Order: sequence, then C-alpha cells, then structure tokens
Amino acid sequence: MGDKIDYVFKVVLIGDSAVGKSQILARFARNEFSLDSKATIGVEFQTRTLIIQHKSVKAQIWDTAGQERYRAVTSAYYRGAVGALLVYDITKRQSFDHIPRWLEELRSHADRNIVIMLVGNKTDLEDQRAVKTEDAKEFAQKENLFFLETSALEATNVENAFQTVLTEIF
Ligand code: GTP
Ligand code: MG
Repeated sequence: MGDKIDYVFKVVLIGDSAVGKSQILARFARNEFSLDSKATIGVEFQTRTLIIQHKSVKAQIWDTAGQERYRAVTSAYYRGAVGALLVYDITKRQSFDHIPRWLEELRSHADRNIVIMLVGNKTDLEDQRAVKTEDAKEFAQKENLFFLETSALEATNVENAFQTVLTEIF
C-alpha cells in the first residue's frame, strides 16, 4: 500500500553553468538549498514521487553540467525526457542570451512533444536583475514555452514549475 507508481516521468534541467539548476533540483527533491553548491560534473538525477490527478507519479529529474567540458553524452541525457526546465539567472544577461542555443539543442535531441518551462531563477536578487520579466515572457510566448521566475533560495515557484510541467505531461 502507498508505494504503487502509476507513471515515471523523466524531466531534464538545462541552462548555463551557475544559473542554479542543481539547487532548483535540491529544493524540489529534498527541500534543501546550499549557497556553496559545486559545479555539476557529468550527470546526476534525483526522484520525488507526487500525486497528480489521483495518480502516483515518480518524477525522475536529471541534472547535468552547464559547462561544456563537464557535460555527458547529449543524446543519452535527452532520451526519453517528457519535460524540460530551461533555466537562466535573472541577474546574468548572458545566461538569458544563451537560451535560444539551449532550446535548439533541446529541440534537436528531445521528443517533439516535450513540455518545456523557461525558468528565470534567483528572484531573491531583485536588486541585481539584468533580465526583464517582460522580455522573458515575450520570448516564451513566441517559442511556445511555459514561463516562471523562481528562487531556489527562497523556495519561490520551484514546486509550481515542476507541478506545471508534470501536470501538462499528463
Ligand atoms: P552547473 O552545475 O555548473 O551547471 O551550475 P548549476 O546551474 O547547477 O548551478 P548551482 O545550482 O550549482 O548554483 C550556482 C550558484 O548559485 C550556487 O552558489 C547556488 O547557491 C546559487 N543559487 C542557486 N539558486 C539560487 C537562488 O535562487 N538564489 C540565489 N541567491 N542563489 C542561488
Ligand atoms: Mg549543477
């Protein structure tokens, strides 16, 4: 009782190094956060089981390095993924400017029907904001992506981002 899994959904995290992918995952999977997070090397994943529309869904979240030299084989990373969080840092313009490249990689390797959420992380650093919410919203609309701003530090919208993607996959 209580351990029946109805679905397993693979969701991938992508985006530049240091935008907060691993801490978004730590927040979602374990409700933890660390300010001295180390750069990811290779691929890691964590799971969390949640109830969506009365079904038990095991979310298997994959996390890889934003740094090219630490990245694992791309095609294996995307294989079977039904959702993706495309993450930038609202205080780093460059991380937003690179989003089209990440989207291109995602679209060329992932399933056509993958659900994609654009995520602007680190909203707790509002005073250092370098990417306007409106610009990101406009880009997301144009590219048919969901969009949310999050703070892994303050646990703002992290749950919401995953819930939205997982519910949409359903
Ligand atoms: P790679 O593994 O190199 O691709 O980086 P990453 O995207 O996984 O970044 P990571 O999660 O390791 O976070 C990088 C730095 O940003 C760390 O110092 C985190 O503590 C910090 N960080 C992550 N999320 C937030 C946030 O919401 N707010 C603030 N202020 N800092 C954050
Ligand atoms: Mg990482």
